Amino acid sequence: MRITPSVLNANLANLESEIARIPSADGIHLDVMDNRFVPNLTFGLPVIECVRKATTAFLDVHLMIAEVDRWAPGYAEIGCDSVTFHIEASDAPIKLARELRALGSRASMALRPATPIEPYADLLGELDMVLVMSVEPGFGGQKFLDLVLPKLRRTRELVARTGQDIWIQVDGGISEATIERCVDAGADTFVAGSAVYSAADPDAMVRALKAQAAAQQDAAHHHG
Ligand code: DX5
Ligand code: ZN
Repeated sequence: MRITPSVLNANLANLESEIARIPSADGIHLDVMDNRFVPNLTFGLPVIECVRKATTAFLDVHLMIAEVDRWAPGYAEIGCDSVTFHIEASDAPIKLARELRALGSRASMALRPATPIEPYADLLGELDMVLVMSVEPGFGGQKFLDLVLPKLRRTRELVARTGQDIWIQVDGGISEATIERCVDAGADTFVAGSAVYSAADPDAMVRALKAQAAAQQDAAHHHG
């Protein structure tokens, strides 16, 4: 069970210190938005390059950008540990995933809430992670969409069939109120933005979410 908090709702004027507040995190989720693929604009390569130099934390970059085939490899080149591209924005996802891995990064594919996993089942072998969006991408602080739970389950089944260790990340509206449903549906990696950064003690929230996810997984093993 991994918790990868999003800094989207942190104080973006102090990224280095905001990241330092969550030492228990398994990775830092960085939401790159271009005002084309999503109706919001955040930060890009120059900012993440500075973050890379400022921390040894695992950097999990979520690219919500158009023409992603052109831009994604740059994030692997500067040393990001995991690079996620949206399948809806990629023209050549197999080529892209191979390029990312060749550059030393993990390769990850994201699905918007309405995008099915089934057409991409044969791509799973090229990937290290699948990100299932549980809100429409673009903004933090939105309500979790329960309708993605069946897709999470189907993703878990397809991943199990590959026999490979492919992480399943869920992103959007994750909190103490929603994380257990996602564990039950097969997610193992959780993005939480507002839940972590609106907490009085963000690192305590990271630890609480991780403990809750682990306990839920144990309970499932014992009863199911
Ligand atoms: C939404 C982003 C998410 C977001 C999560 O487009 O991809 O990573 O920041 O924030 P919360 O946890 O507040 O939904
Ligand atoms: Zn994200």
